[in-house]
Amino acid sequence: MKLAVLVSGNGTNLQSIIDAVNDGTLRGVTISYVISSSPDAYALKRAERHNISTVIVERKKMPAILTPIFKSVDLVVLAGFIWVIPDELLDIKPIINVHPSLLPFFGGKGMYGDRVAKAVLDAGMKVSGATVHLVTKDIDGGPIIMQKCLEVRDYDTPDTLLERTHPIEHEILVNSIKLMSEKEYKIVGKRIVFP
Ligand code: GAR
Repeated sequence: MKLAVLVSGNGTNLQSIIDAVNDGTLRGVTISYVISSSPDAYALKRAERHNISTVIVERKKMPAILTPIFKSVDLVVLAGFIWVIPDELLDIKPIINVHPSLLPFFGGKGMYGDRVAKAVLDAGMKVSGATVHLVTKDIDGGPIIMQKCLEVRDYDTPDTLLERTHPIEHEILVNSIKLMSEKEYKIVGKRIVFP
């Protein structure tokens, strides 16, 4: 299974995929491209260190640049990618996204990284977590592939909550890629099932 991984920042989720490919957890999986919304993303350094081809994309050029790339891979992974994927790119290959909350809560347009963690704390939640889902037109609303919870602590800040959310994201992102590389899936209503 060939992957295109889209990033915008630090790239810890990308790193977890690279590590899982290298240690054999993701057997038969190759990262063909790392695509970044910014030339300054540290994620690009992680890709270069592992000799993975990198592409920097401008927002307006996403359809032109990404269409041939999406056609050439089997699965597209949004690993902290900041922009919404244009509609015309949605049906080329399955696209999955990792999000730092238990969707459908605290998702949608503009909900990214520490804004999500702040919203979780402002709502007084006692649990939070992470979600991996299929990307559809409905922002952060596609069928859920995997989720995992964690407890919110009384004195959590957005930073401490995100710090504890990251390892959970890494775990369910790698496990979701593994699942999608090994099994067919079916969409039944809002649910995704792996028969
Ligand atoms: C992750 O926390 C990811 O869930 C979030 O961006 C961060 C990227 O971290 N994505 C979203 O909020 C998407 N709405 P990373 O660059 O270290 O992987």
